[in-house]
Amino acid sequence: MASSHLKFSSKLPNAKTTIFTTVGNLARKHNAIDLSQGFPNFEVDQKLRNLVTNAMQKGHNQYAPMQGYYRLREIISQKIEILHNRIYKPETEITVTVGATQAIFTAITAFVNKGDEVVVFKPAYDCYEPAIELNGGIPIYVQLDADGYKPDWQAFKNKISEKTRMVIINTPHNPSGRIFSKEDMLQLQEILKPTNCIVVSDEVYEHIIFDGNAHQSASRFDDLAQRSFVCASFGKTFHVTGWKIGYCAAPEVLMREFRKTHQFAVFCVDHPVQRAMADYLWKEENYLSLPSFYQEKRDLFLEGLKGSKFKFKPSEGTYFQLLDYSKITDESDEDLAKRLITEYKLASIPISSFNANNRQDGVLRFCFAKKNETLKQAIDILKSF
Ligand SMILES: Cc1ncc(COP(=O)(O)O)c(C=O)c1O
Repeated sequence: MASSHLKFSSKLPNAKTTIFTTVGNLARKHNAIDLSQGFPNFEVDQKLRNLVTNAMQKGHNQYAPMQGYYRLREIISQKIEILHNRIYKPETEITVTVGATQAIFTAITAFVNKGDEVVVFKPAYDCYEPAIELNGGIPIYVQLDADGYKPDWQAFKNKISEKTRMVIINTPHNPSGRIFSKEDMLQLQEILKPTNCIVVSDEVYEHIIFDGNAHQSASRFDDLAQRSFVCASFGKTFHVTGWKIGYCAAPEVLMREFRKTHQFAVFCVDHPVQRAMADYLWKEENYLSLPSFYQEKRDLFLEGLKGSKFKFKPSEGTYFQLLDYSKITDESDEDLAKRLITEYKLASIPISSFNANNRQDGVLRFCFAKKNETLKQAIDILKSF
């Protein structure tokens, strides 16, 4: 269609096609094994699929309550209390959302005003900055170091000022697979104590954590919890990223404001899926089995790579593993990722685009939420390098 006569200025002039789309398209074109994007290639539990079908058959096909199906919020509240010893009232402090992305977008939209600064740790998942910019906010970066992606709390403290409205954290962290320790969370809490900052805590990989570590949710820490939106994703937890359903928990005074935006952006979330989630989430083994399930996959992948030229530190959480290729080539990560697809038929994600100033760390990110046979095929390719 010829609409070129229409004049407007883009609200996101710097937004480009994401690296996920670029890599995904190239992977499909070359029929490559795809360890790039973060979603499983194995089937969803038949019980969960049946629950959705049953909910539809029973007639739960009209709008759900704006805040989410009450029974689901009740079970989410119980889960957080059992795991993190914090009570969020289902009536006023929990909202079901269209995935964690909408929870994050809504929290940012509800609180960030023009000129407000929002601190983001880099490398960062790519939905934070556009949401900040669309609301007139200014992203302020704290770069995690390349050797282990540990936060430098002094550098973080230096970025906090009167203008800081919000801080976004992500643990377990995509793309590095690093987790914030209890000490990290205490440092964060201490630094923010004298401030007026709100925290958006992206905890979508809360149940994918390894080697016996406990997830240090922002909800565990008294002062942090008072200022935090804890954002979670059933898509990640139950292998259903395509269903786009998650939730957000925050103190009433913050959640009241969040819901004002939520009700006019989406109003409510897919009703039959919420009904199914309530029945499924109720059985705690459905999420407590995740660490061992994914740790087996991480270990299979890393065991297979022993003796290869790639260096790695085992991922502490998420279903991503970084592989350091510095012994193999000094190519940029984007060039190597493209060559891996076109010449070797294996797709991964170059992470420089998630770093401040596109810093090159000499690593690629591989998603191990895949069938074991897929992981074995990937290992054979990586070993041939
Ligand atoms: C760190 C992080 N946050 C948020 C999301 C989005 O979650 P959802 O699909 O529930 O919107 C992802 C998905 O890859 C992610 O990795």
